Amino acid sequence: EKAGFDHFMLKEIHEQPKAYRDTMMGRIAEDGKSVTLSKEIGMTTEQIRGISRVHIVACGTAFHAGLVGKTVIESLARIPVETDVASEYRYRSPIITPDTLVIVVSQSGETADTLAALREAKRNGARVLAITNVVGSSVARDADDVITTWAGPEIAVASTKAYSSQLIAFYLLGLYLAQERGTIDQAQVVDIVEAMHRLPEQVESILEQAELFKGVAEAVSKHDNLFFIGRGLDFAVAQEGSLKLKEISYIHSEAYAAGELKHGTLALIEDGIPVIALVTQEDLYEKTLSNIKEVKARGAHVIGIANSGYEDEVAKSVDETFSIPRTLPLLTPALSVVPLQLLSYHASLARGNDVDKPRNLAKSVTVE
Ligand code: M6R
Repeated sequence: EKAGFDHFMLKEIHEQPKAYRDTMMGRIAEDGKSVTLSKEIGMTTEQIRGISRVHIVACGTAFHAGLVGKTVIESLARIPVETDVASEYRYRSPIITPDTLVIVVSQSGETADTLAALREAKRNGARVLAITNVVGSSVARDADDVITTWAGPEIAVASTKAYSSQLIAFYLLGLYLAQERGTIDQAQVVDIVEAMHRLPEQVESILEQAELFKGVAEAVSKHDNLFFIGRGLDFAVAQEGSLKLKEISYIHSEAYAAGELKHGTLALIEDGIPVIALVTQEDLYEKTLSNIKEVKARGAHVIGIANSGYEDEVAKSVDETFSIPRTLPLLTPALSVVPLQLLSYHASLARGNDVDKPRNLAKSVTVE
């Protein structure tokens, strides 16, 4: 059942190219000029144009997908988006109006807090769109519209392919909303769709080098504290990388917006502490590099994740560099998360933990 892999997590990491293809299938026109979600989303063009704000609500890893979703929807469809943790959303009296679109994201579709947030949103008159991996789940049944991620069953407690397929769902959704609202031109759609079609192969090429992450994971596993840093979408992915590491390796880590370090956290940087720096957002390269220099100067051991083509530049400022294939900045999270998944997996193994069933955790959290 693990298809020759030692753990479900590793199997699921390797299933991501298929999960991407399956989640895109039937939703992109053959000519690559448009995206359609009219089967999933029952809203008319008029209703889509009438959306004044979007709230994305989810827990854990799904929340981290929502952080990427915010940037995707804001930049493509130009609608203001807020992303909230479900257990907070419900109790902060969010401003929900009939023209608010609430997007709930849940792999299992059974997470109690997410389900309660969905119901609260509906009570307040919002339209609710669910992104879920389980057809017929509670979230899918209660939502008005459903985009299914076709990642297939996810068994490992640590979410991998469900997260990355949620990103694909957000790219499709962002494009669809943008087309309907007229905020994107066809040439841009074609560019993004072409780049999306290349993602599965690009993930495969990272997976071919999966063993590379073993050595660095083993070194990391000897530490009790580390940091992930990045800016923009790199910060969103850093948060997911940090959660993954904590969840299965039990190593404490924190994700920081790279520019925010010097407002307090830099005090924690001492000799030898590992800092994993994501440097994939072209317009932020220089800024992130200057933050890397700040931690290097305090003795950090910096592991850089950089775009291919820019890795030599990054290598000058860090101790070790891993490169990922080049794609559009908006799509990079669908690639940059993969090395972080592999890093957590190998760190967990090196510590002798139960990778698929980390202590204290359940796959589906059905209590509030
Ligand atoms: O099933 P859901 O997507 O609603 O689950 C939400 C979180 O409990 C889940 O993503 C959790 O954070 C993962 N175990 C992280 O790997």
